[in-house]
Amino acid sequence: MLEIFSKWKANLTSADLPDQAEEGKLPQHIAIIMDGNGRWAKQKGLPRIAGHREGMKVVTKIVRVASNMGIEVLTLYAFSTENWKRPKKEVDYLLGLPERYLKAELPKLIENNVQVRLIGTTDHLPDHTLRAVEKAVKDTESNTGMILNFALNYGSRYEMLEAVKSIGRLIEEGKLTADSLTEETIHAHLMTSQLNDPDLLIRTSGEIRLSNFMLWQLAYSEFWFTDVLWPDFKEQDFVEAIAVYQKRKRRYGGV
Ligand code: IPE
Ligand code: IPE
Ligand code: MG
Repeated sequence: MLEIFSKWKANLTSADLPDQAEEGKLPQHIAIIMDGNGRWAKQKGLPRIAGHREGMKVVTKIVRVASNMGIEVLTLYAFSTENWKRPKKEVDYLLGLPERYLKAELPKLIENNVQVRLIGTTDHLPDHTLRAVEKAVKDTESNTGMILNFALNYGSRYEMLEAVKSIGRLIEEGKLTADSLTEETIHAHLMTSQLNDPDLLIRTSGEIRLSNFMLWQLAYSEFWFTDVLWPDFKEQDFVEAIAVYQKRKRRYGGV
């Protein structure tokens, strides 16, 4: 793991790099808002979907490097609950991508011991998309390597609303009382109940916002933003984000 990290680090020129890559400080969970596909395509005079196609290739690369480096969880924001506002043609293309990606990559994910997981709502998702992702989850469930968590048809406010509803139901049934609720109760009812919170959030394309992504889970995460558009994002950018993360001092409100 460290060897691979050193290899990538050796190519970096940024003055921000830490003196040493400390294995203990590798972020365990990295979440990425993969943004800028449309602008990438526009710059090249191509239709937006050409940007999404190129973005999928970057997913393949980043998943491989993250898994090789020993990252424990990689969450990728693939489609938000707000992305339904886009033209139908684009939505259809975006919702076809998980299937295309998995068709090409599932055997390699299995070989690399990766566990595919899903957060988001299945509402309105096309059957073929759901079947492909559910098959990947099932085929990789006994793996023990990196968790590759796709946020597909995911929205954080929806997630929290659903959590509140299910906790409310338990209170109505007399199984819980309002006073007994803790932060752990909320954590346990989120779609990420099986995961630790992200240590590092990466967003590409120069937008500095969360766009309804993991609002609860990112409470104490480190953020790293880059102007690079997702289709141009390289392994080296990913490693740079980690290197910057390693220099951060996480205080959690302490001194
Ligand atoms: C990210 O790229 C892909 C998704 C949101 C699914 P965009 O399609 O948002 O690209 P821009 O932001 O329009 O450039
Ligand atoms: C966030 O990007 C969603 C995904 C990357 C899947 P958007 O491009 O949809 O976000 P906004 O519209 O710029 O906030
Ligand atoms: Mg965008």
